[in-house]
Amino acid sequence: MTQDTYLTGITTTGTPHIGNYVGAIRPGIQASKDLATQHFYFLADYHSLAKNEDPDKISRSTLEIAAAWLALGLDTEHAFFYRQSDIPEIPELTWVLTCMTAKGLMNRAHSYKAAVQANLDGGNQDPDKGITMALYSYPILMAADILMFKSNKVPVGQDQKQHVEMARDIAQRFNHHYGETFVLPEAVIGEDTAVLKGLDGRKMSKSYNNTIPLFADEKQLRTLIMKIKTNSLEPGEPKDPGDSTLYDIYKAFATPAETRAIKEKYAAGIAWGEMKQILFEYVNEQVRPARAEFAKLLGDPAVVERELVKGANRAREIAVPFLDQIRKAIGIRKLGA
Ligand code: TRP
Repeated sequence: MTQDTYLTGITTTGTPHIGNYVGAIRPGIQASKDLATQHFYFLADYHSLAKNEDPDKISRSTLEIAAAWLALGLDTEHAFFYRQSDIPEIPELTWVLTCMTAKGLMNRAHSYKAAVQANLDGGNQDPDKGITMALYSYPILMAADILMFKSNKVPVGQDQKQHVEMARDIAQRFNHHYGETFVLPEAVIGEDTAVLKGLDGRKMSKSYNNTIPLFADEKQLRTLIMKIKTNSLEPGEPKDPGDSTLYDIYKAFATPAETRAIKEKYAAGIAWGEMKQILFEYVNEQVRPARAEFAKLLGDPAVVERELVKGANRAREIAVPFLDQIRKAIGIRKLGA
């Protein structure tokens, strides 16, 4: 039994929010403490390019996301922590895989189908209106990310599961055609990792503009928590923790015993204002040390840059020889050697 290799990418859009923290960053850092497994975490900046982000926003987001993982204590000696665009072998492998990818497979991608459907619903003559080749072949770039490092476990959200299955299909087809080369990956969907709701009660997401930035300053954090939507039950009326964003967020940060105590307060009719204050104080205390470290890193981006370059160098020690092997396998070879 070879050791498990975990790999996941983070698209560089927006600033890290508490949903990213409890759903991806915290479990990632936690998992990477297991020295018996290998971990690859990278900033998927070429993926965010596919979303046509503003250049300054991509670069700002790259800095903030990298600084967040570092501030929260990712061990970059053990985990590989890098920027996708620092590994030129990834786009190179993307093309090789593109040659092994059935167009019909890409036609079935949920994200592409959703974009086509939106055009049809909007009464557009052209179902592909505004759809770039990057959106269309996004899963192939993702397959290259995964297959390059022989990752067998890919922690992702439910929405990315299909992409991991596609990477597996592509790998299988390649192996069949050129001989055993790639490890077949599987998605790992964190059943017990919380998916947080945002200010308005929908899933916390940058696209809904309802997030609480992980490193909001104290004043902003307080303001945002005060804005979280509740129902109109009065103080003294029993409240249902099963239907409360405040409770969900508290639970994602607190210990089970603390969470049980809050549950009792709900039954006893805690006022929403009081619950908001408790939540604010709790989250604020927890993020305070990392927030200071995060601010320090934002003030000194060269430190972050050095970490990413270090990570890329380590990752390329694997990627360069593996791509060499792949090139030989497909017939891109030195002549007369
Ligand atoms: N597409 C993923 C997302 O939007 C990010 C990503 C890029 C990724 N490459 C990956 C995730 C490889 C897992 C493995 O969330």
